[in-house]
Amino acid sequence: MLRLATGLVVAAFVVGHFLNHALGVVSVEAMNGMRSALAAFWRSLPGTILLYGSLATHFALALVSLYRRSTLRMPAWEAAQLILGLAILPMLIGHVVGTRLTWTLYGHYIDYERIVGLLWSDSGAVAWQSALLLIVWTHLAFGVHYWLRLKAWYPAAQPILFAAALLIPAIALAGFAAAGASLWPAIEMVGGMQKYNLDLAGMTDAQRARLVHWREGLTWGFWLLLAATLLARWLRARIGATYQVRHSSGRVITAPVGRTILEAIRDAGIPHASVCGGRARCTTCRVRVGDGLAALPPARPAEARALARIEAPPNVRLACQCRPRSAVAITPLLPPGADAAVARSPGSPQGRERRIVAMFVDLRESTQLGERRLPYDVVFLMNQFFAEMYQALRASNGYYAQFRGDGLLALYGLSTEPAQACREALQGAAEMQRRLEALNASLAADLARPLRIGIGAHVGLAIVGTMGPTDAPIYSAIGDNINIAARLEGMTKAYGCTLVVSEDTLKEAGIDPAGAPLHRVRVRGRNERLNVYAVGDPRTLLGIGV
Ligand code: FES
Repeated sequence: MLRLATGLVVAAFVVGHFLNHALGVVSVEAMNGMRSALAAFWRSLPGTILLYGSLATHFALALVSLYRRSTLRMPAWEAAQLILGLAILPMLIGHVVGTRLTWTLYGHYIDYERIVGLLWSDSGAVAWQSALLLIVWTHLAFGVHYWLRLKAWYPAAQPILFAAALLIPAIALAGFAAAGASLWPAIEMVGGMQKYNLDLAGMTDAQRARLVHWREGLTWGFWLLLAATLLARWLRARIGATYQVRHSSGRVITAPVGRTILEAIRDAGIPHASVCGGRARCTTCRVRVGDGLAALPPARPAEARALARIEAPPNVRLACQCRPRSAVAITPLLPPGADAAVARSPGSPQGRERRIVAMFVDLRESTQLGERRLPYDVVFLMNQFFAEMYQALRASNGYYAQFRGDGLLALYGLSTEPAQACREALQGAAEMQRRLEALNASLAADLARPLRIGIGAHVGLAIVGTMGPTDAPIYSAIGDNINIAARLEGMTKAYGCTLVVSEDTLKEAGIDPAGAPLHRVRVRGRNERLNVYAVGDPRTLLGIGV
């Protein structure tokens, strides 16, 4: 959490700083104007503590994690993130000393004219600064991506964020280049910006020597801290006790005490899911612990929170957080290839019984869509239809569980109480009807007949969990009540309506059937008949004018 918070503070500074560079395409004066505005905060006492405190804490946490990471076997993205992060500080020190420290120690305000002029008088400095900009940005973008990809809304926002991730460094570099080009005549005139810059800054030799000492001291400090961390890590791995992990594959792995189960497994070359890179956020690394459970150290707060979120039973632990001191037997609960989509699924893969609303949605007469249409047009139409239904689910807190050719299964109540789930399901049905009509209006010229849907909704107990082939699991639900919802959807054809909803669902939602006809139907999986309502337009249940 602290790493995320400090990273976000530094990211806020970086984004502002890069946008400031981008103003170089306007003028150097515009850059200086924005810089003064940003400096009013970042150079104030609270801004200074926030920024440099965050930078130092972020770096310290990276060293701690490097120390605790007792194996350097890791996925490529984690390795890239670590290397880029460690490259930033030694590359940045000269820039910070030349700008911020010069101001702090001597009150010299190094404006954009001086710093850009100084850099552009040396092609090596231009390349260095540009590389630094790209490294900082890549580290930031990786960090944000691997943090947000576990959020349910991220896939929808990803194209916009990706465009911003490309655009911001591009315009920052364009601004830097434009500012350099505009200053070039002045640089040539004074025979090199370095002389021009130092004269303007009015620094004495002693002051300059002191700055050089600062720069060298900070650089040495960085390398010494890094070397000390690596040495401590190496010593810890070689001195001290070991423990054994008995993996469900039959392998027995010996690892030094202090190493996490995930590190031990990876070091042995066994693939294991780890979507968030060991930050106790995704829970994809979870394992069921057999022998040795009682002797495990208790879960720390971050692990305990993550396990509580997925309602994990007591014998489940996060492999990335758990550091055994004695032998344990473990079984991975997710396939090694589990990805962010699995991590975003709202529950536990072990399966649990829960009272939920199952809703089947079916596109009527979908086979006729293929008549006299190119396959491309049919796929386009179906994708438009599914996009609208998906938006309706999102707007009503529904979970898209399964695709069924020309329909889908949605679940309500995975994280809410049944009464609320019933209300949300009916809102979802109303929103689907509204979106379908809008889609029909926009496609009127292409459709012989408007698209129609049938919806079946029923509340009841079901088994929910992650299921399916090991390399493509989905989060879904099974049980008699799910089958009942499917049958209700099928009845919409016989009743000539859009929605068939069970009386239980309406009662639990506290919603009046609004004059919809009641039917007593027989469904497989139930001995007694089920009361259902055939609703022409789901919006009437909510009192929405049609
Ligand atoms: S790897 Fe994400 S919680 Fe363990």
